[in-house]
Amino acid sequence: MVNILVVGSGGREHAISWKLSQSEQVDKVYSSPGNGGIENNVDILIDNLEELAKFAKANECFTVVGPEAPLANGIVDEFDQKNLKIFGPNKEAAQLESSKIWAKNFMKRNQIPTAKFEIFDDAKKAEDYVKSLDYNVVVKADGLAAGKGVIVCNSTEEAISAINTILVKKTFGEAGNKIIIEERIDGIEASYIALSDGNIAIPMATSQDHKRIFDDDKGPNTGGMGAYSPTPIIDDELAKKIQEKIIDKTIQSMKNEGIEFRGFLYAGIMIKDGEPYVLEYNVRMGDPECQPITMRMDFDLYEYLLAASEGRLSELPPPTWKKQSAVCVVLASQGYPESYPKGEEITGLDNADENSFVFHAGTKNQDGKILTNGGRVLGVTALGDTLESAIANAYAAADKISWPHKYCRKDIGKKGLSYL
Ligand code: AMP
Ligand code: GLY
Repeated sequence: MVNILVVGSGGREHAISWKLSQSEQVDKVYSSPGNGGIENNVDILIDNLEELAKFAKANECFTVVGPEAPLANGIVDEFDQKNLKIFGPNKEAAQLESSKIWAKNFMKRNQIPTAKFEIFDDAKKAEDYVKSLDYNVVVKADGLAAGKGVIVCNSTEEAISAINTILVKKTFGEAGNKIIIEERIDGIEASYIALSDGNIAIPMATSQDHKRIFDDDKGPNTGGMGAYSPTPIIDDELAKKIQEKIIDKTIQSMKNEGIEFRGFLYAGIMIKDGEPYVLEYNVRMGDPECQPITMRMDFDLYEYLLAASEGRLSELPPPTWKKQSAVCVVLASQGYPESYPKGEEITGLDNADENSFVFHAGTKNQDGKILTNGGRVLGVTALGDTLESAIANAYAAADKISWPHKYCRKDIGKKGLSYL
């Protein structure tokens, strides 16, 4: 039996902890810092690599890293040095997410399909460039900006303003010392996530996120307001194309460049005229995509994560998935992604049935009461025999939960229905 330490505190980390705790090989699952829904919280922040390593050593843990920040900070390198078992890409491999410029140049030199782009650190040159273009652009800060730092522009004026926001006003801090200006691709977005051991990559079930705060994809981008799996937007033929042209090519190209990518590789994809383009890479599971994907796993996640971290995924059979659909509706605090109240008591949490599960994100347990403690608070996730019934089940479960400033989108999964 093995103990697990899941690093992180979001809905994704709750879902990973939940699934790992079902493994017959797993004894105790700890999470640091965890949240109000996770049983064994450990009070260590995700940037305190030394303390995390000490805890993992003392408790003989296999460590699983949820979010990108500790990966970009080199948690895997630190644990490797200390001979501690850990799942996730090392610092060099994590550059796929931690530097958008590194990722764009990597794709360019390896012919991985992505929007054409230029890089700037000078606002005047960047302005002159966008004025010379006859298409719309997206302006991106180079570094990690907590899911922000990307401005999709509808005109040259908006592009100039975006250049100023990132490069001159430094709204995203150091992450905006350099920018990418890339062609805007108008198509359909989907997430494609695979698990790699540095040699091969096996696809996870397909999924689609809902990034905007309001229904019908209106309003500002968020970390994700809900997701469902599988998505009919990625049919078998398209999945094959994405797997070969993007995922396998990425892992092989990394290997050719001397970098072993062991972890979840997430490609944010735009599909235009049947062709997939990479908008961004993430080096971790998506949140909230992880919640419905995990709910459909019909295999022992621990075995797969361990094999991936040891470079021996090819020894395992292909993972199997529940045929049902899963939908995750994120319940957020009104005001998110800007400012929102915290500390409100949540009621109705005990009502989930066997087809649904409430994953916690921004919550804390205070003297037995569950209080809101973040923007995205809960991820109510349900199975159903069809996408339609999974949507109905998720909303039925979500309706039973309340707090004063609860907010959710009402149309999670609807985009998928229109493709059936
Ligand atoms: P990113 O963090 O790079 O995935 O960007 C955040 C969001 O901006 C994406 O989910 C897309 O909705 C949008 N976006 C990014 N790049 C592009 C692009 N080249 N064309 C159109 N939309 C984009
Ligand atoms: N849901 C998008 C992400 O995890 O980046």
